[in-house]
Formats: sequence, C-alpha cells, structure tokens
Amino acid sequence: MVRNEYLQIPGPTNVPSRILRTLSMPLINHRGAEFEQLLTHCVKGLKKVFRTDNDILLFPSSGSGGLESAIVNFFSPGDKIVVVCQGVFSERVSLIAEKYGVNVIKVKKEWGQAVRAEEIEAVLKQDINKEIKAVCLPQNETTSGIVNDIESVGKMMCESSHPALLIVDAVSSLACMPFENDLWGVDVAITASQKGFMLPPGLSMIAVSERAWKLYEESKLPKWYWDYKAVREKMEEQQLPYTPPTTLLFGLKESLDILEEEGIENVWKRHALMAQATRNAAKAMGLSLFAELGYESDTVTAIYMPEGIVFKEFSNILKSKYGVVIGGGLQRLQGKIFRIGHMGSIHKLDVYAVMGAIEMSLFELGYKVELGTASKAVSETFLK
Ligand SMILES: Cc1ncc(COP(=O)(O)O)c(C=O)c1O
Repeated sequence: MVRNEYLQIPGPTNVPSRILRTLSMPLINHRGAEFEQLLTHCVKGLKKVFRTDNDILLFPSSGSGGLESAIVNFFSPGDKIVVVCQGVFSERVSLIAEKYGVNVIKVKKEWGQAVRAEEIEAVLKQDINKEIKAVCLPQNETTSGIVNDIESVGKMMCESSHPALLIVDAVSSLACMPFENDLWGVDVAITASQKGFMLPPGLSMIAVSERAWKLYEESKLPKWYWDYKAVREKMEEQQLPYTPPTTLLFGLKESLDILEEEGIENVWKRHALMAQATRNAAKAMGLSLFAELGYESDTVTAIYMPEGIVFKEFSNILKSKYGVVIGGGLQRLQGKIFRIGHMGSIHKLDVYAVMGAIEMSLFELGYKVELGTASKAVSETFLK
C-alpha cells in the first residue's frame, strides 16, 4: 500500500488539503448575500492572477467549454480567424470553430514545436483587407509540453495595424507561468479550474477586453448558455444566470488565497524550478525530451518512451508500486511519449518522489540507468 497518490498527469492536479476541506462546506443560497461576497472575492483574486482589469466571466464547464464560448461570442459564420495548430488542444479550437462555420486559417506546426510571432505576422500581413477577426493560440500546448511566447505575439499584434483579437488558451499555464493579460495585449484568455488553480474540474474562467466586447456586438453565432453579455450582466449583480458550482467557488476562494499568500511571481518561479529539476533528472537518466529546445513547458514535461519499454507496463508499475500517476501520449503520440504534470501543488520533495519512482520503474523494466541518478540531478538543480 502506498501512503499518497501523486497525481502527476497534466491536470487534474493534486488538490491541497486546505482546498479539499473547503469543498465539504455546506451549500449556500446562490442568490443570497454570502454568494455575492464569495463571487466578489473570487473575481478580485482572479483579476490578480490574470493580471488584468478586464471583465472576468465564470462558467460551470470544463476548459473546452471555455474555448467554445470564445468562438460563439465573437464570430459569425464565414468569419476568418487564424488558429495555431500544434497539438490536441490547439487543434480543438480549430475543430470547434469549423463546426460553427467559421473559416479557419491554420498555422500548422509539428507537435512539439512552438510557433513564432513572425509566422503569425506573415499571415496577418497577407490579409490586406483586414478580414481576419482573431488569432487563437495556446500559451502552453499540454499535448507536447511546449510554450508559445505570448508576449512576443501580443507585441507583434499591438505594433501591427491589424485589428485582429488575440485569444489565448491559458488552461494549462495560468497560475503557473508568467502571464500578463493586459501588458501583453491579450483580448480573451481562457482557463479552467483543474490545473494551476489546484481545484477539481468544472469551472472555466475567462478574461474579456473592451476590444473583444466590440466584436461581441457583431457576432451572429447562436448562444444562450455561453452568452457573455448575459453572464456579465448577472455577474454585475454578483450572481450567475444559472445555478453556479458554489462548491467549486469555495475552493477557488481558497486557491486564490493560497496563491496570494505565496505571491504569484513566486508561484511562477516555483513552477520553473520544478520543471527544470524534472527535465534535468530526465536528461541525467538518458531520456530524451519531446519539446523544442528553449520552449519547454513549466507545467508538463513530455518525454520519449525509451526503446523497448511499453507505456502501459511502465505506468502500471509506477501506480501500483509507488502511487505515481503520469500521463501518456495523446492521439498520434500514444505509446511514443509520456507526460509528467508538475503544476499547481508541486513542491521540491514531490519531484524527488516522482522522478525516483520513474527511475525505479524504468530500471525494473530493463532500462539501463544507475540508481540514484534522478535524485542527484534534482538535488543539483535545487542547490544551484
Ligand atoms: C491547453 C488546454 N486547453 C484546453 C484543454 C481542455 O480542457 P478540458 O479538458 O477541461 O475541457 C486542456 C485540457 O487538458 C488543455 O490542456
């Protein structure tokens, strides 16, 4: 029997006991004063994490619902948008948009490669009539463990005379990696509860700029549940148009308090250090990283499966003997890579546990590695 389970998939993440306790709070009236205070507290805290003065909207939904909401609120059938496609989640945006009859111009990247601002700039420059309504891309593509440089994309778009909105999927990056919604000129940022916020799944959170609200007025796609204006109006009264996931909001309040106590910049630094230690341990063990060099994620490390080792056997040993749960490759990467999530509640000793368990499991499966290599690399990272 193992004492703890280490849920090191790239979300949902481990939920700290402080948050777990709040999830057992008795329910309250979602049209009453207590709820109003709760929502006000959450919105205030979220603005600090998004680093924005823009409106914050909440939806009872997973991250994908948040992505779909961004499509139906800003566009009309036949509108042109640019979508960077570089993994399951970025390609999902393009799938959703196409389902609604939006005309998607894809900037395709190999999975594992980050996009450069210049690649998007080239597409916008060709759009002489300025018909493109938005550029959509993820900050962190969870499929492959790469990070796009949103700051440089935002800078390029601010400096260009193109009016397209910048829509960022920050589901697996917010509250983990540096994100400056307003400074970087992000118009719409979408995130979800089950990653950096250390909560169960079920809540999506979206920041919407004034520029984006203008485009909302032109949008003709049908919407009711996802209607941003209806949600904004109700949130101005500290309510939601429908029954909100009150329990998750209790958790969110606690999560925001935890983030505030640590300080968001320290949260970013901690994630960067945990990611560095994870990568260093993997490399020291002779494993190869999947992500493009220099664009590796601070929240998920994707590693090639070593020759001759089957993911299922490896992950079974990890779970049954050590209580460590990791993610596999998605779609075309199934069996080819494994993914270690290190986001949210992740601290120094967790990295030893996870990388040590990975080393032992690989060793047991015949992988050639000197025992102790992972922990040495982790210690050396932390003592630097
Ligand atoms: C970057 C990114 N976007 C979107 C999603 C979809 O979120 P959900 O699974 O909550 O619908 C995920 C999920 O892992 C993600 O990592």
